[in-house]
Amino acid sequence: MQIGIIGAGSIGTILARRLARAGHDVSVANSRAPETVNAAALSTGATAVWAADAAAAAGVVIVSVNLGQIPSVADLVAAAPADAVIIDTSNYFPHRDGVIEGLGQGQTESLWVQRQYRRPLVKAWNTITTASFADRSTEPGTPGRIALPVAADDDRQRAVGMELVEQTGFTAFDAGVIADSWRQQPGTPAYTTDLTVEELPAALAKADAHAAARRRDLMIQIYDERTQTEGSLPGPDFQLALTRALF
Ligand SMILES: NC(=O)c1ccc[n+]([C@@H]2O[C@H](COP(=O)([O-])OP(=O)(O)OC[C@H]3O[C@@H](n4cnc5c(N)ncnc54)[C@H](OP(=O)(O)O)[C@@H]3O)[C@@H](O)[C@H]2O)c1
Repeated sequence: MQIGIIGAGSIGTILARRLARAGHDVSVANSRAPETVNAAALSTGATAVWAADAAAAAGVVIVSVNLGQIPSVADLVAAAPADAVIIDTSNYFPHRDGVIEGLGQGQTESLWVQRQYRRPLVKAWNTITTASFADRSTEPGTPGRIALPVAADDDRQRAVGMELVEQTGFTAFDAGVIADSWRQQPGTPAYTTDLTVEELPAALAKADAHAAARRRDLMIQIYDERTQTEGSLPGPDFQLALTRALF
């Protein structure tokens, strides 16, 4: 497939590497010129391009920018080929993205994102931390393999998203429609808890929309408190223990 990735940060870099290694024709862009895209993103064959070019020629456009930056890419995504599948990895964190009216108290973030893009999307890869994404991918059939929820309204588009999630080293779980994708947002039991496909359905079912925003903010407070106490960012084990402890 021709895949354009907008966003070459923590998640976009790993996506570019994995999907190029899987044999796709991958273009990747950040907010600046192609020569500023980090070398790690290009190490398995992806090509650095301008963001407009990443969206323009692709059969699949993956957007991996902070949610507050989505308005800056919305027109590019809206102009992608009509049959392109749009996949979005974003999560809303008010302390980082700013306060957005109608978001953040349990509302469905991807409905807001869809309105920005003016087209349907697939929500995927939003529930895995950079550390687990980088280090905990496995082959299908590996015991304890991490499963990632994939939501979309269109069955064909969701199937494309699920196929690509599998190719990045995780079991893809059909999480239904976008209106239900609040069940995989920050502060829910499925968010960055590295669950297996056996564990994930119960976690999605247990999500509580109103508690999610409170727990997300609590998670950030504890993370920041620990960072200040230690004088450095907590490691991945702390992050996983923290999200699991919330449930
Ligand atoms: N980090 C995680 O553990 C994690 C896990 C799952 C999901 N997510 C979600 O995935 C998204 C990306 O996260 P991240 O941690 O990878 O972010 P990041 O490291 O901050 O990277 C963001 C990328 O977006 C690019 N960007 C911003 N505006 C752009 C524009 N107008 N055109 C093109 N590129 C643009 C930035 O380009 P420049 O380099 O030029 O600024 C940067 O490459 C976020 O919504 C996040 O919540 C993150």
